This record gives sequence, structure tokens and C-alpha cells, in this order.
Amino acid sequence: MIPRYFVVAESAHELQNPTSKEKILEAGSLLGLGPDSRVLDVASGRGGPALFLASAYGCAIEGVEISPDFHGVADARIAAAGLANRVSFKLADASKETFAPEAYDVALCLGASFVWGGLSGTLDALDPVVRPGGHIVVGEPYWRSLPLPEDYEDRSLPFTTLEGTVDIIESGGLAVVSMLDSSLDDWDRYETQHWDALERWLAATPEHPDAGEIRARYEREKRNYLRHQRELLGWAIFVGRKQG
Ligand SMILES: C[S@@+](CC[C@H](N)C(=O)[O-])C[C@H]1O[C@@H](n2cnc3c(N)ncnc32)[C@H](O)[C@@H]1O
Repeated sequence: MIPRYFVVAESAHELQNPTSKEKILEAGSLLGLGPDSRVLDVASGRGGPALFLASAYGCAIEGVEISPDFHGVADARIAAAGLANRVSFKLADASKETFAPEAYDVALCLGASFVWGGLSGTLDALDPVVRPGGHIVVGEPYWRSLPLPEDYEDRSLPFTTLEGTVDIIESGGLAVVSMLDSSLDDWDRYETQHWDALERWLAATPEHPDAGEIRARYEREKRNYLRHQRELLGWAIFVGRKQG
């Protein structure tokens, strides 16, 4: 189960990653998505990527999401957009799901490689479900420079450099054919939406039993973003092509 902190902090995000609608649509265009395309979206969250891609390209998308709060929002957004005939979401732990072999043109995992213990495990899990010549698309953090400062908030995060990230993807037999890197504007939008949602929640529910813990984490993460993360942490959408 994901921590309550994220359910509060991401209660208003359109996209739960430091990226933009334009970059999601650009990825869809690079992938050549169309009405005949079948897409698996692992950790589909509040449904933002599926909503944008199905609206623009008419593709069929199946999402899997573990958080009931996010799953509920995703369902409602898709129904409101009149896309329920193209997009469906399953409330489940993706790591425990069995997906039909070579059933998808594209498998997406944006910001959730921890589902299979990291990037390599995620690529191993998704490779069999994508048809030959199809694509695996991962949204993944990377360090812009190493080593990290001593006072970085969490020095144990399992990320590597940009070059190292592409090496991991290609060592699994995929060719990285595109990369959509997040801008500082993307990062600031994503991070400050956390601040806004958390401030609103703390102001509305000051006596909530989780309020103290959530405020402490919010303040630590905000400080770390301003001091280090904004400069040191990158994030990109990597498009990997499976051999045909
Ligand atoms: C960073 S968010 C990304 C959401 C979405 N992909 C997007 O780009 O807007 C990560 C998502 O992974 C979900 N998640 C975490 N563990 C999961 C699991 N084992 N199975 C399915 N979803 C999971 C979280 O609930 C959260 O919605």
C-alpha cells in the first residue's frame, strides 16, 4: 500500500510525475499510437497518461493501480471524458498480476519501477508482454551528478546516472530510441503541487492523527528539493524498442 502522504500530496495532480501533457503526447506520437494499438499502463495512478493518450490517439489502454484513491479518480476521469470503451483500470498490485504474453504494442511504467524492485526487474517483467517490435516505455529518475552531498535527504535511492540508466535499459536487449527529459518547469510544477495540496490538507484537518507526521515529511522534502534535488535529480521518459 502506498503511504498516505502521497494520497494527500497528489490529491490534485493531473500527472503524478515531473512531466507534461505535451511530453506524454509526444511519446504517443513517437510510438505511432492509433486506434489499433493496445497499451498496458502499469501503476496508472490517477489516470493522467491514459486519459491524454486515449483522447489523442484512440488507443486501447489497460491500467493497473494499487491505490484505491487513485484508482477511483482514474475511473471517474475516464468516464467523464467518455473514454470508458477504450480505457479500463484494474485495482491490483501489478507485481502479482499475470499479463498475456506479447499481447501489447506498448507497456508503460511511468514513475513506478519500484513495483518490481527497480528498473532491471521492471524490464524483465514487461518484456514478455510486449510483441516483437513493440515498445517498453519507462519514466525513471537519474542523478545529474554523483556523489550526492552528505546531507541529501535519502542517499539510498537506487538510481544511477543518465548514461547508466540507458545502459540498464539496453542491457535487457531493448534499443533506446527516444528520451523525453523533464525540464525545471516540469519539476517545479510537480513539486509545488505537492506543497499546495499538503498546505490545504494541513489547514483543513489540523487535528488529524497523521498531521504531525505528514507536516514533518513535507517540510523535510521541501527543504531537500530546494537545497539539492532540484539541481541533482533528473527524470526522463525512455522509449525502448524490442527487437522485431
Ligand atoms: C509516481 S505515481 C505515477 C502514476 C502515473 N503513472 C502517472 O504518471 O501519473 C506511482 C503510482 O504507482 C502506484 N503503485 C505503487 N505500487 C504499485 C503496485 N505494486 N501496483 C500497481 N500500482 C502501484 C502508486 O499508487 C502510484 O499511483
